[in-house]
Amino acid sequence: MTDAVHDAGGKIVMQLWHVGRMSHVSLQENGAAPVAPSAIRAGGNVFLQEGFVPPSTPRALGTDEIAGVIDDYRQASRRAKEAGFDGVEVHAANGYLLEQFLRDSTNLREDHYGGSIENRARLTLEVVEAVASVWGPDRIGLRLSPFSTAIGDTPLDSTPLETHSYLARRLGEIGLAYLHVVEGQLHGDSSDEAFDVGALRAAFDGAYIANNGYDRQRAIDATSSGHADMVAFGKLFIGNPDLAERLRANAPLFDAPASSYFGSGAEGYTEFTPA
Ligand SMILES: Cc1cc2nc3c(=O)[nH]c(=O)nc-3n(C[C@H](O)[C@H](O)[C@H](O)COP(=O)(O)O)c2cc1C
Repeated sequence: MTDAVHDAGGKIVMQLWHVGRMSHVSLQENGAAPVAPSAIRAGGNVFLQEGFVPPSTPRALGTDEIAGVIDDYRQASRRAKEAGFDGVEVHAANGYLLEQFLRDSTNLREDHYGGSIENRARLTLEVVEAVASVWGPDRIGLRLSPFSTAIGDTPLDSTPLETHSYLARRLGEIGLAYLHVVEGQLHGDSSDEAFDVGALRAAFDGAYIANNGYDRQRAIDATSSGHADMVAFGKLFIGNPDLAERLRANAPLFDAPASSYFGSGAEGYTEFTPA
């Protein structure tokens, strides 16, 4: 797959994703409980073969288990390199493990991975250091969603901007290539009024990639005004595998039905006839 992307002149980055508590016993080895910073069950749903179900109650990771989690990221980074990717993106957004550690709403730990902002950011920073030991920092990005509660009904951190700005500053010091930010509420309000990224941008030296509900015009405006260095598209790619070409030509876009997002067949992905 990476060869095909490179042959077409593209770049491809692997996202490293540990879901933490957004899981279900049937997805875990030996039907065990999912792991999380604290044993607090998430809301929302997780996707199984037979459809969506509520997540299972997680167990809190022991302090002595955390090195193993970091090592999983290191291993995954090595595999991504062997598979020919151009870099990796650490997923610290959308209610998954690293965000569960970052927020004081989901992290009630009393060891040095919980409590202060520095402690709650520690796992993410240790993961980034482990990934950087394989890739170098300039081939790594990190995804954040400071103001989204959408996945797992994850309550916001009590000081989202302060927490994420601390992280952004530390990531800048490490020399990360980019921050990729889900602005506002995932799939919801992403207007500038709802989300002021100024503090994050000021704290981080690298590139800023904006995401969440952008269309062609908003993306042009965001990059020309200096709001963002780049804009990422999600859902539009589902119905428009040739999205980059369509945006370039200002061609009509196909709106894939939401019912097809988590299907495993062609519907909504490849079966439509381009306009
Ligand atoms: C079916 C589906 C799967 C997604 N999977 C991921 C994922 O694996 N990692 C991630 O960071 N975001 C994921 N997202 C969120 C998107 O990356 C993006 O943030 C979101 O759709 C908002 O951007 P958009 O309005 O351009 O779609 C997913 C979204 C959808 C609809």
